[in-house]
Amino acid sequence: MANSKSLFLVIIFTILISFSSAQGAVKGGYWYSDSGLAVSDIDSSYFTHLFCAFADLDTNTNQVTISSSNAPSFSTFTQTVQQNNPSVKTLLSIGGGGGPSLAADFADMASQASTRKSFIDSSIQVARNYNFHGLDLDWEYPSSDTDKTNFGLLLNEWRSAITQESSTSGNPALLLTAAVAGSNQISLLEYYPAQDIANNFDWINVMVYDLFTPGGYSTQTQPPAPLKNPLGQFSAEEGVTSWIQLGVPANKLAIGLPFYGYAWNLVSANDHGLFATANGADTDATSSGDGSIGYGDIREFINTHSGAQSVYNSTFVTDYCYSGTTWIGYDDTQSISAKVTYAKDNGLLGYFAWQIGSDDNWTLSKTGKYHES
Ligand SMILES: *[C@@H]1O[C@H](CO)[C@@H](O)[C@H](O)[C@H]1NC(C)=O
Ligand SMILES: *[C@@H]1O[C@H](CO)[C@@H](O)[C@H](O)[C@H]1NC(C)=O
Repeated sequence: MANSKSLFLVIIFTILISFSSAQGAVKGGYWYSDSGLAVSDIDSSYFTHLFCAFADLDTNTNQVTISSSNAPSFSTFTQTVQQNNPSVKTLLSIGGGGGPSLAADFADMASQASTRKSFIDSSIQVARNYNFHGLDLDWEYPSSDTDKTNFGLLLNEWRSAITQESSTSGNPALLLTAAVAGSNQISLLEYYPAQDIANNFDWINVMVYDLFTPGGYSTQTQPPAPLKNPLGQFSAEEGVTSWIQLGVPANKLAIGLPFYGYAWNLVSANDHGLFATANGADTDATSSGDGSIGYGDIREFINTHSGAQSVYNSTFVTDYCYSGTTWIGYDDTQSISAKVTYAKDNGLLGYFAWQIGSDDNWTLSKTGKYHES
């Protein structure tokens, strides 16, 4: 009797939890302060969630801070983007792709209870002071067993602090998300505490891009962010599947959509398919040293180079274009549609774009939105 009653309560409780944590489909996008896109020019109608990137980690105090150059746009971010779309939610993104030294700063912060507390308390305070609806952790990347343990402690303490603050203030709890590596190619996924992630984050943004880049050494053109890879490693599908296998449910995963690609230099203009012979990054189409090029610039490249061809390859789910000895692998509308459909068909929570300032007149943002609904 007692057993069946408690079983009944467990079932009811489980149902309540699964309903209360159910998010509508996430159509997210990162706004990056260095992108050149003014906050007032964001068409927020294409998004359910906008991530404002990036707040910093002060290594002296272990507090979350916003630089003085970002303060004016960050402090009015929510108000500005809600003018177009009153229901859009905003999250303050902390950290970013700052390389090994930033990763070490996060590791240090997470290594002691007192520094974790400074970080957590300040993050909540900054989020409330700046009117964000949530916080997004971009620790790129935890890279040891010690990091994994400390990341888990940080998450558990962060979630309790957020719950506590919500019950004290009476405001809805802040959302808590993270951007995480999408492939062992980028950073070993085993150094993430998957169970703590599943328990404490509202969802995670899986960065399934930069899987193949022209680097210094790349001798053949490759799809930078293929959804599928019949050759084996690596692909967005593999990244998503890895996270599910680690124990994070599909409905807590958002798939990453790159609003940029990479340019390779072809050895011969006549050999211009996928896996054509190449020698590293191209310097004609983009001045970025690593060959990265935003979608808007890719469209401009296609429009200004007569004879430029673009191709969608549905086997890998990638687009590429070429002209002369320039070859660019990227996601155009077909790849974006296929990825959004994949997310929906596989029960993922949704998708996010990095980053919306690279879009071309909202073409990709629009593609995502209308495929999802
Ligand atoms: C995609 O590219 C691969 C490699 O060149 C090729 O084998 C495959 O047939 C292409 N898929 C389509 C649908 O054209
Ligand atoms: C941008 O897209 C809108 C339609 O969504 C169109 O009316 C407008 O002309 C486009 N602007 C440019 C510069 O292409």
